[in-house]
Amino acid sequence: MKASTIFTVIALVGLVGLVPTASYSAHDDVPDPAQIARGAKAWAEQCGRCHNIRSPSELTDEEWLVSTTHMRVRGNIPGNVIRDIQAFLRSSNKKE
Ligand code: HEC
Repeated sequence: MKASTIFTVIALVGLVGLVPTASYSAHDDVPDPAQIARGAKAWAEQCGRCHNIRSPSELTDEEWLVSTTHMRVRGNIPGNVIRDIQAFLRSSNKKE
């Protein structure tokens, strides 16, 4: 086999390996760890200001979207901070 052929085979195998990862993150919207870390911090700082902090497992992803949108208005929380908090809640309310 020529070197270029070997390279092509490796590239194709690499692409096949990437496909499931790409479609998984597109469907499940897997957030990046830095965003989850920012969200965890913002959740602790923002969401206990007016009432006891709620457990992430209290609501489903969809319910959290509604509730955090509501709380965004209540607490005048910036959109990027709310998106971080939503990413944190999505990542931590999953039952293993
Ligand atoms: C400015 C004060 C304030 C902040 C900040 C705040 N909340 Fe609330 N929250 C309220 C009030 C007041 C209620 C009672 C419902 C209402 O009248 O809006 C409430 C109700 C809730 C409820 C009950 C269900 C619902 O949506 O009404 C949940 C869950 C909740 N908050 C979660 C959160 C989370 C998560 C955050 C952080 C993103 C947050 N709250 C930040 C004031 C606040």
